[in-house]
Amino acid sequence: MAHTLITGASGGIGEQLARVFAKNGHSLVLAARNINKLQALAGELSSAHGVDCIAIASDLTSPNAAEALFNETRARGVDVDILINNAGLLCEGPLQANDLQTHMNLIQVNVSACTALAWLYLQPMLEAKRGRILNVASTSSFQPVPFLSTYAASKAYLLSFSEALWIETRGTGVTVTALCPGFTNTDMINRDDGRKPMTLPFVRNMEAHEVAEEGYAACMAGKAMHINGRMNQAVVEATRFQPRPMRRFLSGLIAKGF
Ligand SMILES: NC(=O)c1ccc[n+]([C@@H]2O[C@H](COP(=O)([O-])OP(=O)(O)OC[C@H]3O[C@@H](n4cnc5c(N)ncnc54)[C@H](OP(=O)(O)O)[C@@H]3O)[C@@H](O)[C@H]2O)c1
Repeated sequence: MAHTLITGASGGIGEQLARVFAKNGHSLVLAARNINKLQALAGELSSAHGVDCIAIASDLTSPNAAEALFNETRARGVDVDILINNAGLLCEGPLQANDLQTHMNLIQVNVSACTALAWLYLQPMLEAKRGRILNVASTSSFQPVPFLSTYAASKAYLLSFSEALWIETRGTGVTVTALCPGFTNTDMINRDDGRKPMTLPFVRNMEAHEVAEEGYAACMAGKAMHINGRMNQAVVEATRFQPRPMRRFLSGLIAKGF
């Protein structure tokens, strides 16, 4: 039976994507580290929407995790026709404020695991002449972001990777979409030091369910890329014609106010 695999489905945008896909009749494979949360969500969604929901514990900081997840779905006879690379990590502060392993974990989850999962699941999708891949990138994909340097660079990779695959898969029945949310109210942007959650001046943070609804529509429509919300679209548009030195300078100024 065809299933939608969602990484990072235990909370935030991933949980809301699971809710939207289930509501639209898709059976699910939910992956993240917190198996208790995943099992509770799987139980809730399968009884609410009559879809099959499987929970699999997976820590994507492990270099073998993508292959293990692929092998597990194969062993269970699950056909993944939609892959959602949603799990992501964020490191805030100047490069040296976080230890090397923290940055390496970010690159493993945001870049390497997404690449490996796309590589693994694309082949069966191409053979079936049907499939969707949704990569959750960010508005930070569009410019360097000082104080979120490895995060923004990882999201730039994911956007570039997705757009390239969108072209490569044209006419195959498979589409690859990059979803680019701006700041969204989830645990990711909450700080534990008493400071307010991250936000952009004059731009409202979106809610995770709004991002998920737009993500679902963009993925099913096979769009190459979707920026969430009109305000975020306007912010990205405004950076398009800035010379590169101005773009990185302004980005640094704005990031200081996060
Ligand atoms: N929130 C924003 O402002 C924002 C803006 C733009 C883009 N995004 C992107 O949207 C995606 C979802 O972010 P979010 O805001 O929903 O974050 P979140 O609330 O922090 O949720 C992150 C999810 O990833 C999972 N995860 C964390 N570490 C993991 C690991 N090592 N292995 C496997 N799963 C792991 C978490 O589950 P467990 O802890 O159970 O593993 C959780 O389900 C990310 O790619 C993020 O970069 C977010």
